[in-house]
Amino acid sequence: MGGGKGGVGKTFLSANLAYTLSRAGYKVVAVDTDIEGPNLHTWLGVSKPRVSLADYVSGRESRIEHLLLETPHHGLGLLAATHGDLAAAQPEAGRRLEFLRALRELPCDFVFVDCGAGAHPATIDYFLVGDEGLLVLHPEPTSIENTYTFIRAAFYRRMHAAMQKHDVRECVREAMDQRNERGIRSPLDLLEAVRHMDPEEGQRFAATMRSFRPRILVNEVATAEDVKLGFSVRSICRKFFGIEADYVGYINRDQAVRDSVLLRKPLLEVRPEADSAVYLQRIAGKLAEAAGAPR
Ligand SMILES: Nc1ncnc2c1ncn2[C@@H]1O[C@H](COP(=O)(O)OP(=O)(O)O)[C@@H](O)[C@H]1O
Ligand SMILES: [Mg+2]
Repeated sequence: MGGGKGGVGKTFLSANLAYTLSRAGYKVVAVDTDIEGPNLHTWLGVSKPRVSLADYVSGRESRIEHLLLETPHHGLGLLAATHGDLAAAQPEAGRRLEFLRALRELPCDFVFVDCGAGAHPATIDYFLVGDEGLLVLHPEPTSIENTYTFIRAAFYRRMHAAMQKHDVRECVREAMDQRNERGIRSPLDLLEAVRHMDPEEGQRFAATMRSFRPRILVNEVATAEDVKLGFSVRSICRKFFGIEADYVGYINRDQAVRDSVLLRKPLLEVRPEADSAVYLQRIAGKLAEAAGAPR
């Protein structure tokens, strides 16, 4: 769950989609990777996490199954983050990869990874733990701008990781600089350049592009115009990035959301009748359907 900007609802949605799916009978783990501003545990009613990602970063614990905490909610586990060593907030790259690999192997139906704000490489790596990361945006120009920055960063990082030949990887790396001297200005330009350099890598590039399918959620909508935002982001992804994004839904701006966090309880427990709870369930249903996860 990423999106670039802070305060758009990433943690609200991570916690509440995780809860909603666990309530539907799935086995779910919610993971907080926002080491700079960890608060997923609070949304899930865990006041002081006993162990957290900070213990993994520091090397005190290296098995992620030992970091899993129970929550008050049946079928919903938590891997929390807490302020750890201020000098070394994120695990270094190698350890991060190990962590991401372990996350993919967790024995559960869904893993929700809550990302921090910004497009730091560590944040992008957490977002890319699956090919179908959820992007949360607010119907405001600043959030939309940050979303594109985020998609761009995620796209290039994904492509760089997928390429195998040194010179092609180098070309992808150079293309990350918007003013690169190769004259590559868009992902489609890059695809052409890679195809030209090495047809086999070109095929791999195109296949990776097809599998990279971010999913869009618009949070705190207030007007019909706001609802349409997801569709325009989707068409821009297609036009400028050559990728398909799915618009999985929206949630209205609703006092019920604030009420639920004040009580440190899931929205569906506190205000099941609220519009936001209905939209939330609709989104959770779509995610379950798309994953085809057996219950
Ligand atoms: N749909 C909504 N309606 C009303 N308030 C919301 C909604 N979504 C989020 N909020 C409020 O916005 C605040 C920030 O949300 P949060 O999930 O912490 O953002 P992020 O994790 O993206 O920084 C929350 O504390 C919550 O009170
Ligand atoms: Mg957050």
